[in-house]
Amino acid sequence: AAPDRGTAHDQDTTDEPAFLRACRREPVPHTPVWFMRQAGRSLPEYREIRAGIPMLESCRRPDLVTEITLQPVRRHGVDAAILFSDIVVPVAAAGVDLDIVPGTGPVVAEPVRTHADVERIRRITADDVSYVADAVRLLVAELGTTPLIGFAGAPFTLASYLVEGGPSRTHAKTKALMYGDPDLWHALCGRLADITLEFLRVQIAAGVRAVQLFDSWAGALSAADYRTYVQPHSTRVLGGLADAGVPRIHFGVGTAELLPAMAEAGADVVGVDWRIPLDVATGRIGADKAVQGNLDPCVLFAPWPVVETEVRRILAEGRAAPGHVFNLGHGVLPETDPDVLTRVVDLVHQASAR
Ligand code: CP3
Repeated sequence: AAPDRGTAHDQDTTDEPAFLRACRREPVPHTPVWFMRQAGRSLPEYREIRAGIPMLESCRRPDLVTEITLQPVRRHGVDAAILFSDIVVPVAAAGVDLDIVPGTGPVVAEPVRTHADVERIRRITADDVSYVADAVRLLVAELGTTPLIGFAGAPFTLASYLVEGGPSRTHAKTKALMYGDPDLWHALCGRLADITLEFLRVQIAAGVRAVQLFDSWAGALSAADYRTYVQPHSTRVLGGLADAGVPRIHFGVGTAELLPAMAEAGADVVGVDWRIPLDVATGRIGADKAVQGNLDPCVLFAPWPVVETEVRRILAEGRAAPGHVFNLGHGVLPETDPDVLTRVVDLVHQASAR
């Protein structure tokens, strides 16, 4: 049976967790907080449980996914859990030969160059990622009232890994294909949108209560190119989930100039990095969306009084938006002291208590 996700429109949602209320622009008892990459190498318990198990293998083991996802919830008391997985998991399930190399990231054996390469990337079905649905169901049972966020990579960010063959600073090969062969580009992004949409639908059917679309590298593009080459595909993903009853978060890095277009693509919440204050971001996004962000992950290495000042500034700037989910502007860096993250959670809760 489908879980009761209590859609905002016609139900009393006063008992809903603060995270979901903020996403829906409803009043909250405190500003909710979670951290991108809250599960991961900043936690000694993560390093211990992952020892000797390759990243992709751990993503396919529901018992491990459940334990790793719960670790930061137990330790920090964050307002939401995020499924432990990776953006390339559904692409691997679609038949692409790839690995996640420690310290590097995803590496693709045969980068995409031709239409035949795109055709070899299969559409996925729920059966191809059944281990993800299994993990979500285990987690929903364990988490109680804490909502679980599902996620996927957006077509541009996935395409970058597939075309470059690995991480890239300039995205030069990706842009060369995009400008040089728009038909092939749209075929690739169309196929990736199919995969991403199915991957998110599987997670929603299994019980995640919000989804985040990670277009981490979209900030490499101008607004005009984003609208031409990327937005139609991300719109198809987000639009395909409009009736799913869960808030949709749309995030990228370095996207100050893209915020209006990313909001238009069909988000309920727009993720913002640290390069633009949340009140300025809200002016660009519009008053009909919540925002998520935007502490610079490197501020966590500063003395505590600096961290505290920055957290309070972000809470104040976030009040300009109709809903604010506190987060970092990008993922937790592996060298981060987890005790500082716990302190940030406590400060956000205490300083924002209504
Ligand atoms: O946020 C969470 O806690 C959930 C887990 C999560 C991971 N990857 C686990 C992971 C999420 C949401 C992702 C998404 C992801 N993966 C993105 C989008 C988010 C972002 O950071 O912009 C991207 C671009 C990737 C691709 C990727 N996978 C990178 C760049 C890396 C890091 C490479 C490295 O070793 O530094 C990975 C591997 C990865 N994904 C790790 C984790 C915890 C590290 C693997 C390890 O512990 O060895």
